[in-house]
Amino acid sequence: MSSPADTAGDWPSHAVLVEPVGSWHHSDVLVERDTELAALRAGAAATVRAGRVVLVSGEAGIGKTALVEAFLRDLPARSPVLQGGCQSLSTPPPLASMLEIAALAGGAFTAMVRAGADAPALARALLELLGARPRHVLVLEDMHWADDATLDVVRFVCRRIEDVRALVVLTYRDDELGAVHPLRVLLGDLARTRSTSRLALAPLSPAAVGPVTAWPISATCTGGPMAIRSS
Ligand SMILES: Nc1ncnc2c1ncn2[C@@H]1O[C@H](COP(=O)(O)OP(=O)(O)O)[C@@H](O)[C@H]1O
Ligand SMILES: [Mg+2]
Repeated sequence: MSSPADTAGDWPSHAVLVEPVGSWHHSDVLVERDTELAALRAGAAATVRAGRVVLVSGEAGIGKTALVEAFLRDLPARSPVLQGGCQSLSTPPPLASMLEIAALAGGAFTAMVRAGADAPALARALLELLGARPRHVLVLEDMHWADDATLDVVRFVCRRIEDVRALVVLTYRDDELGAVHPLRVLLGDLARTRSTSRLALAPLSPAAVGPVTAWPISATCTGGPMAIRSS
């Protein structure tokens, strides 16, 4: 792999300066998200009594995945975690995220997904799976891209989450939700439940990002980590 010095001649000058953030990208260091991490940990701790849903929102690159990954890294060893995501496709295949979950879960749930079971049946099977072990964590990322069948399963699961001792973490880009976006129905449902908390991620401060990038932050910069890295 070429070093920044090898390629600097072909790049705009600012891109060379941005390069140090490449190592930050692969690092596990999470800055300025102590409150959000604590909220996720509190959500997980609360599942001793009843299931919880945490909604993590923010624009692309703000750090939703980084936050969730940091939270998962800090879970006790052998914590049961199921993790899947939705993809940016103009016609997302039905239940793509559930296929990812099924690949991790195995057993009856996987068989049902493969057999094309309907959303309520899948949701019941998923709840059963989550309830089978205490303190299960289910992460579904990029729910703004979820297909309708995934949304149905997740709605059903979230409505009954209090019955199982599991934490559901859903991430999504709030700036990509138009007034009639299908995810809004799920968010509307969840707004009325006491089992749901919301974490809206704010941009990192220049003070946090500046020393890491060693790059002068412009006055117009939003402070989103991705914005800093790729500008
Ligand atoms: N708080 C943070 N501290 C350090 N790096 C971060 C932080 N938030 C995000 N990053 C980095 O910024 C980049 C974009 O973050 P990511 O979590 O992928 O954004 P999102 O999932 O919101 O699109 C990644 O390289 C990630 O490691
Ligand atoms: Mg992400």
